[in-house]
Amino acid sequence: MIDKIKEHIAEVENFTAESKEAIEAFRIKYLGKKGLLNDFFVAFKNVPNDQKKVFGQSINQLKLAATEKVSELKESLESKTEDTGKYGDLTRPGEAMALGARHPISIVKNQIIDIFSRIGFNVSEGPEIEDDWHNFTALNLPEYHPARDMQDTFFIQTDPDILLRTHTSSVQVRYMENNKPPIRTISPGRVYRNEAISARSHCFFHQVEGLYIDKDVSFADLKQTLQFFTTELFGKSKIRLRPSYFPFTEPSAEVDVYWGLETETDYKMTKGTGWLEIMGCGMVDPNVLENCNIDSKEYSGFAFGMGIDRIALLLHQISDIRLLSENDVRFLEQFKSTL
Ligand code: PHE
Repeated sequence: MIDKIKEHIAEVENFTAESKEAIEAFRIKYLGKKGLLNDFFVAFKNVPNDQKKVFGQSINQLKLAATEKVSELKESLESKTEDTGKYGDLTRPGEAMALGARHPISIVKNQIIDIFSRIGFNVSEGPEIEDDWHNFTALNLPEYHPARDMQDTFFIQTDPDILLRTHTSSVQVRYMENNKPPIRTISPGRVYRNEAISARSHCFFHQVEGLYIDKDVSFADLKQTLQFFTTELFGKSKIRLRPSYFPFTEPSAEVDVYWGLETETDYKMTKGTGWLEIMGCGMVDPNVLENCNIDSKEYSGFAFGMGIDRIALLLHQISDIRLLSENDVRFLEQFKSTL
């Protein structure tokens, strides 16, 4: 009997539990009304008198060990729930939040949106995976039109009608199909062209294209709008319009802004001329208006389109366009902006 009690004492001393339920089961097993200790006390009555002393001491030892174990386990459980409880330690000082930075493309895009929204343009968006109609045909580029080669296109292999949009002019077509003039909208977004990747060009980049359609819109309105835009964005008001060709505008022009030649990046970006080609523009071809169910006798309009990436390179003096898509945090964290 003594040996049995000793065994129990050892068992009690080695016992551990992590949950309230396990501790309570342990308590009932030893200290409960019908527990083991009770059994031993009952048995105690029949122990011969000369053994009573030793036997009694052992039972008391077991009782003490069990009682102590229960309170010890309860205490450690309580202190644990205190610091890792549902809400953790509410008195701990907070952790500082890491401040992110906006991507230079987003910074410039937001600046452009901001400038045009001040003169009444809204923002429209469309899908990057486009169909032939919205990217080409509606824009006065029917099938087999040679000007389709101006923009090397990624087609979806299984369906020649589906492609990655080569410009966000496709969004303007969608906008004209769904809205009546007067229209004043800009369409920012990512576009894709099957071009060799170098420091100056990539196979995907970003554009903001603009469209203004109303009665009596003239080329003078276009020029004045662009003049306002370049002055606001670059702080430089010297621009020139060179005659150019786009199938969806007539007449068409290319817009250069005089940037100057102060840094090495300026040289690289302007090919040593100081002039930076920033966008294409023109008066919307009547065919395009008709394709989008707008009466070309009643309405006229202008459109323009620019690449954001090159402008971002110039404004932030970045020498390689590939840096913009490498996701290197050391590069990205250098840009802070409120816009
Ligand atoms: N869509 C042309 C491009 O991506 C840019 C452009 C837009 C030109 C509108 C004229 C008018 O190159």
